[in-house]
Amino acid sequence: MAVARVPLIAGNWKMNLDHQQAIAFVQKLHWALKEAKHLDGTVEVGLFPPFTDLRTVQTLLDADKIPFALGAQDLSTKDSGAYTGEVSGAFLKKLNCTYVIIGHSERREYHAETDEIVAAKVQAALRHGLVPVICVGETLEQREESGPTAISVGQLEVALEGVPASAEIVVAYEPVWAIGTGQVASPEQAQEVCAALRAVIAAKLGQDAADRTRVLYGGSVKSGNIASFMREPDVDGALVGGASLVVDEFAAIIRFQKHVGV
Ligand code: PGA
Repeated sequence: MAVARVPLIAGNWKMNLDHQQAIAFVQKLHWALKEAKHLDGTVEVGLFPPFTDLRTVQTLLDADKIPFALGAQDLSTKDSGAYTGEVSGAFLKKLNCTYVIIGHSERREYHAETDEIVAAKVQAALRHGLVPVICVGETLEQREESGPTAISVGQLEVALEGVPASAEIVVAYEPVWAIGTGQVASPEQAQEVCAALRAVIAAKLGQDAADRTRVLYGGSVKSGNIASFMREPDVDGALVGGASLVVDEFAAIIRFQKHVGV
């Protein structure tokens, strides 16, 4: 039996919008969505600002009762101690973060994050009651060499080592060749990999977990193509980079969800 999964539209700001810019952005986004009554629970909106914005955004969400979920873009494998520059999952939880992105391709590429580090970060997130948004995806060369699904499947298998069947997780398929390039994957390509990832979740954590876990697509998602992705049965939302920094564009991506009634 098909299980209804509330779509998640997640805005990964990357290293954009300082804490002052964040206030104006969140207020405008809320206004754009409130006016059109699009925040009634049919779609979950997640914001992933830089660490230095989290406190400010969390205060604003609380004060104005804005129903966006908050997440960080990374966390430490460690809980506390002499790890200069690192941020603990415990601190993120205290700031009311719900989510934390783990294993984004930019972390893997620029910070040499291996599958094992990603797995340790997933454990750190779960230790502190955070929902890991586990990112996987292949480069163009890897796709040509290994086919469309093998790399993502392998990355997810390692990330899920030791994860209990009851854990809440989110998985994001982000083909590296589609991130920030405007070269978007086709809905069929996204569906193929997202279905393969759901099968990994079923094999590792059981069918219940596979049925309830949201699998997102990410990579050049815009208001003009979100519809085509959301039509696919195994795509449960989007991890949006560039387009999440433009209020009207991000609002249009979120609003689309309502219309299709997924
Ligand atoms: P993009 O980024 O939407 O700018 O392609 C997606 C991501 O990296 O999460």
